[in-house]
Amino acid sequence: MKSKSEIEKKFQAARRLFPHTKKVTYFNAASYGPFSTLVQRAIEDNVKLRLHVTRDDSHDAFETADQLRSTFAKFIGARMKEVGVGLNTTMGLNIAAFGLPLKKGDEILLSDVEFPAAVYTWRAAAETRGLKLKMVPSTDRKFDIEKLNQAITKKSRVLCISYVQFFNGYKNDLKVLAEICKKHNLYFVVDGIQGMGVEPINVRKLGIDIFSSGCQKWMLSPQGCGFFYLSEKIQKQLSPPFMSWLGVDWKVQFTDLFRFDLPYFESARKYEMGYYVVQNLLAMKASATIFSDLGIGNIKKHNYELIDRLADYISGNKFYRITSSMEPRHRSSIFTFTCPGYKELHRMLLKERVILVQREGSIRVSVHLYNNQADVDRLIGLLESFSAKSKAAGGAA
Ligand SMILES: Cc1ncc(COP(=O)(O)O)c(C=O)c1O
Repeated sequence: MKSKSEIEKKFQAARRLFPHTKKVTYFNAASYGPFSTLVQRAIEDNVKLRLHVTRDDSHDAFETADQLRSTFAKFIGARMKEVGVGLNTTMGLNIAAFGLPLKKGDEILLSDVEFPAAVYTWRAAAETRGLKLKMVPSTDRKFDIEKLNQAITKKSRVLCISYVQFFNGYKNDLKVLAEICKKHNLYFVVDGIQGMGVEPINVRKLGIDIFSSGCQKWMLSPQGCGFFYLSEKIQKQLSPPFMSWLGVDWKVQFTDLFRFDLPYFESARKYEMGYYVVQNLLAMKASATIFSDLGIGNIKKHNYELIDRLADYISGNKFYRITSSMEPRHRSSIFTFTCPGYKELHRMLLKERVILVQREGSIRVSVHLYNNQADVDRLIGLLESFSAKSKAAGGAA
């Protein structure tokens, strides 16, 4: 166990890996995470290698993919054979929507405040497979367990939900949801992207069937990066919605390619798609070292402490109103608040080089491992002057 000051030093060192911190105050990982110099180096090294190629490096990516499956498996409490390298979140959701053994009339339960990635994927599956989508009504824009229980019928077969809701940071209680899924024999599919890297998770313990996450946000990798988890149990039930020539085991020997009878991989790798986006794999691998080094539990704690500082200020200034949940079970690294003239506030913050977004009527602050107290204090200072100006102009709430 490392002491608090040792951990703090590690976070300070991690911040130095992110050059953007010298120029802007970045609170926008929930949209797109910034690159570290480790990612930069990984990509640049590969470009150099390919520019001045002196050997057959066409198979290197297989080893990198192996390392990534193993790393992601550790991060989420899975076995390596349950993890596949993906391209984004949507890929794993598609494996669920088009690969799960479902029949006409089966009901798919989604939240009415779900991110569109799951909704459109399941909508297409519903249209082609004759499934029925049921949007579970939220209460106060938070997923409502009681309403879920009311929505479940004998035809319900799947619950698909985000770990953390993108717009207000509401973290769903996966343990409770997993128990409901078990009780009603529902497949449990989780879009993990808004919690991946900032909320520890153990997918096996929870009993999640399919978990999918892009790595372009909190995992601080390029767009087009991701992975999916398919539990051992679910792999036996899935039919492949697509197939690639690399879904079978060539033992990395490509001299005898007229072999059309090779067995499929008996692992999530079966669902990967052809050759890899090599630079993205290398970038993900480099970025993952930051998470292994700091520990996802420590990152969560670091982010929550910074959010507490901001939340304390916001709660003390009646001009502002917190719109995200601060309940320990439901809070996350996404913090949201609103105020009169929040759009104007957003414009002002961008001008001041505080990078964040508005979502659904609130300002969304995504706090991550490279942020520090000075970032939060800078934001607080700007909020204080905005509220003072608005109050002086008669716009107080
Ligand atoms: C909850 C959630 N799911 C999925 C995505 C993105 O999906 P993909 O990684 O497939 O582009 C986002 C944000 O862009 C999101 O917030």
